[in-house]
Amino acid sequence: MNLFQLVWYNRPLPDMSNGEIDYGPLAGLIGVWKGDKGTDIAPEPDGTENTPYRETITYTAIGDVKNAGEQVLTALHYRQIVQRKSDDEVFHDQTGYWMWDAAELTVMHSLQIPRAVSVLAGGHFNGETNEAGQAIIEVSASAESNDWKIIESPFMAAKASTRSFSQKIVVGDGNMSYSQTTLVDIYGSPEFLHTDENELVLG
Ligand code: HEM
Repeated sequence: MNLFQLVWYNRPLPDMSNGEIDYGPLAGLIGVWKGDKGTDIAPEPDGTENTPYRETITYTAIGDVKNAGEQVLTALHYRQIVQRKSDDEVFHDQTGYWMWDAAELTVMHSLQIPRAVSVLAGGHFNGETNEAGQAIIEVSASAESNDWKIIESPFMAAKASTRSFSQKIVVGDGNMSYSQTTLVDIYGSPEFLHTDENELVLG
């Protein structure tokens, strides 16, 4: 390690997780979540695969950014590790950011999965809650949208194209549930409904 690297790796990191930052509806997500009531429905050449799963999702507050000198976004980074209940094998690994634009009341979710597919989903949040006072956060993206889009490799575009993605998260008081639908054009089905849902508790 040279002197530059020594100084760089030991530099003090900015504390961007102080209480002054407004994460809006995302604030309730910060922390480590675990849940074992997951259900995945995924495409198979001869039909569907239904897999019960457990998972850990870690959301980390990373502070705010300013875009073009005017748009302020606050952001969480997350990592989602999903294991089959039958044998504990990790069969899905996902990462990305959740962002909150308080001025526009807009929530954004950028996600990457290691199939060479990335999504930038968006939605409005105007204080929606359920009867228990939990925040209801909804985002979506589609191949046809001009605003919230999907990017995929040439292989995936030809063989297993993601046409749309929608997700609903309900979070509050240390509990979270989500449901999501990914529409995939695969194995001759132009609109295969690949779905995932789970209930998690804050660790
Ligand atoms: C909890 C979340 C998820 C789980 C557990 C999961 C699991 C799976 C499984 C088991 C398959 C079938 C793989 C195979 O048979 O080889 C699959 C396929 C696929 N998934 Fe997901 N998935 C999740 C989320 C997503 C998301 C968020 C996207 C994209 C937005 C996505 C896109 C795809 C695509 C495009 C395929 C087709 C690839 C193929 O089967 O050859 N998945 N997923």
